[in-house]
Amino acid sequence: MKLLVIGSGGREHAIAWRLAQGPRVQKVFVAPGNGGTAREAGLENVAISAIDKLAEFALAENIYLTVVGPEAPLAEGIVDLFRSKGLRIFGPTRACALLESSKQFAKEFMSRHKIPTAEFSSFDTAPAAHAYVDARGAPIVVKADGLAAGKGVIVAMSADEAHRAIEQFLVERTMDTAGNRVVIEEFLDGEEASFIVLADGEHVLPLATSQDHKRLRDGDRGPNTGGMGAYSPAPIVTPELHARVVREIIQPVLSGMVEEGHRYIGFLYAGLMIDGSGNPRVLEFNCRLGDPETQPILLRLKSDLFELIESAMDGRLARVKAEWDRRAALGVVLAASGYPDAPEKGHVVTGLPAAGEDFRVFHSGTALKDGAIVTNGGRVLCVTALGDSIKMAQRRAYEVVEGIRFDGMHYRHDIGHRAVAARRL
Ligand code: AMP
Ligand code: GLY
Repeated sequence: MKLLVIGSGGREHAIAWRLAQGPRVQKVFVAPGNGGTAREAGLENVAISAIDKLAEFALAENIYLTVVGPEAPLAEGIVDLFRSKGLRIFGPTRACALLESSKQFAKEFMSRHKIPTAEFSSFDTAPAAHAYVDARGAPIVVKADGLAAGKGVIVAMSADEAHRAIEQFLVERTMDTAGNRVVIEEFLDGEEASFIVLADGEHVLPLATSQDHKRLRDGDRGPNTGGMGAYSPAPIVTPELHARVVREIIQPVLSGMVEEGHRYIGFLYAGLMIDGSGNPRVLEFNCRLGDPETQPILLRLKSDLFELIESAMDGRLARVKAEWDRRAALGVVLAASGYPDAPEKGHVVTGLPAAGEDFRVFHSGTALKDGAIVTNGGRVLCVTALGDSIKMAQRRAYEVVEGIRFDGMHYRHDIGHRAVAARRL
C-alpha cells in the first residue's frame, strides 16, 4: 500500500523512513519533503503543500494512509478535510489541535480538567497585561496565543523584558494575529522533558521519552530555536514519574476531550517542566511529534511504525506494546549560518556518510539540486547515533558530525550534557 507523509523536516524524514520499512508498505510519498527524502529508498517527494491539493493527490494516488508531521496543516483542519472525503489520515482534528494552536485554549482546558500547569491569565489589551506583570513581578513568562513557530514565548527575567514583550505582541503586532492575545504565566523552574504518546481517542501508547535542547548555544545560552539536538531516553523521567505523567496529564487530556465531545487521535506531545521534588507540570502541548526528538526516538523504535499507527486509528492501542532498542540515541542538529533569524541557503553539503548500523543522518533544511545536496533551511541535518549509554551515543554522533561540511555550518557541542553530567545513563 501507498502512504503519504506531510512535511519537510527531519521529523518527517524519520517518520517516512520508518514507515517505508513496514512489510506491507510499498511506497511513501513525502509532501513536500527535502533532499534526504528525495534520495531515500522507498520514498518519493511530491511538490504539494496546500491541503485541498493534498487531498486530491491522496484520492488520485489511492493513498491508504496519510501521516501529518507539522502543526500548521492540523490547525488548518487537514484531518477534518481528509475525513470528509473518506480518506484515512492520522492526526488530531482541528478542534483537538487547538491544544497547540491556542495557548489560551490549552490553559483553560488544563484548568477545566485539573491538569497541572503554571498559573496564568490571558489578555487582549496591553494596559491590563502590563498591570498583571506589575502585580506579579519577574521572572514571568509572556506567550503569544497562536502558532508562532517557536518564537512566541518570552521567558522574562525582568519586568522590563515582560513589558517589552507585551508591547511587541499586542501593540506592534510582531507576531501578526498569533499575538492578538497573550497568555502570561508563572515562571517554572526545573528540568524539561518531552513526553510523547500515540493516542487512539481513549487509550495511549507512550513512546520512548526524550529531551530537547531549545537554546542556540552551548550551555543552554542564546535565543530559543526549534531545537538544536535531542536524546532518548530522558533519565529524569523515572518509572514512577512516567506513571504519574500518564495518570495526571495524558489520560486526563483524552478523557477531557471525550467529555467535550471530541476524540483525540494522533500523536500528543506534552512539554513538561519537572521541579526539584520531581513534580511534573505542563509547559505546552503539541499535537504532533517533536522535531528533533523524533529522530532519536524513531532510531530506537524496533516495532513497525505503520502497525502502531494502524492500531491507534482502529482504537486498539490498549492491547499494543512497542519494542525499543535498549541503546540510547542522540541527535545533533547541524544548523545554517544565520539560524534562527535569517538562515543562509544554497550551500553544498559534502561528506554525508551512508547510514551505518548505529547512526543515520536525517535531513531537515536540504534540497537535491543537480545531483548534489544543498542547504535549504535553518536546521539542515540531524546526525543521530545509537550507543550503550547517552555518553556513547553522544561520542558516536559527534564522530559522524566531524566528516560533514557546508559553509556556515554550526552546532552545539554539548547535546546530552545534563544526562551525561548526572551520570544517570
Ligand atoms: P513553549 O513553546 O510554551 O514550550 O515554550 C518554549 C520554551 O519556553 C519552553 O521549552 C521552556 O523552555 C520555556 N518556557 C515556557 N513556559 C515556561 C514557564 N512557565 N516557565 C519557565 N519556562 C518556560
Ligand atoms: N522540539 C520541540 C518541538 O518540536 O516543538
